[in-house]
Amino acid sequence: MRIDIITVLPEMLDGFVNTSILARAQKKGLVEIHVHNLRDYTLDKHRRVDDYPFGGFAGMVMACQPIDACISALKAEREYDEVIFTTPDGEQFDQPMANELSLKRNLIILCGHYKGIDYRIREHLITKEVSIGDYVLTGGELAAAVMSDAIVRLVPGVLSDEQSALSDSFQDNLLAAPVYTRPAEYKGWKVPEVLLSGHEAKIKEWELAQSLERTQRLRPDLLEKK
Ligand code: ADE
Repeated sequence: MRIDIITVLPEMLDGFVNTSILARAQKKGLVEIHVHNLRDYTLDKHRRVDDYPFGGFAGMVMACQPIDACISALKAEREYDEVIFTTPDGEQFDQPMANELSLKRNLIILCGHYKGIDYRIREHLITKEVSIGDYVLTGGELAAAVMSDAIVRLVPGVLSDEQSALSDSFQDNLLAAPVYTRPAEYKGWKVPEVLLSGHEAKIKEWELAQSLERTQRLRPDLLEKK
């Protein structure tokens, strides 16, 4: 899988892409992440990528030309499954969307900034608009990082124990059961007895009951989705 991220703040993503799970996935040759500086594509002699909005509104708007030039250059090299734009008014990112995107070959993620981008880009070049939550970030870089992390960890082979992605919270609309490690008793705090029993069926039963109980208590809305 390949993800191309287009941004005006590449330095914000460089560290993340080269240190996190994304770095590990790239080293293993499972994923390629490329960060593109939008300013490299502007024809403006001052390297500007934004301009004043028509209509006298406040704020600046990212202009068509650099975005179109960057996306066109990428599309000339390969086909893309989705051209994603990060925006608070997009479709809410969630685990099912991460699952779906993890099956794609090539993705572009365009990070929004300023007051937004010229709407013609959204109409003509963007295939999917995604929000990571009902709050407004300064730019789309954190959203692109969140999405890339959630997507890449689902690519087979990225996590050392593939099972661990399958048993994540949300993977079946249930929160994960609690986990424990040694020692079995710490400061008098005990690990649930059943986990020490070695009885696989009982442990599975306990795990499901815990998942259901925690989901009911903490995120009852998830049970309605089932
Ligand atoms: N850009 C600004 N806020 C955002 C959000 N909540 N999700 C995605 N992109 C954004």
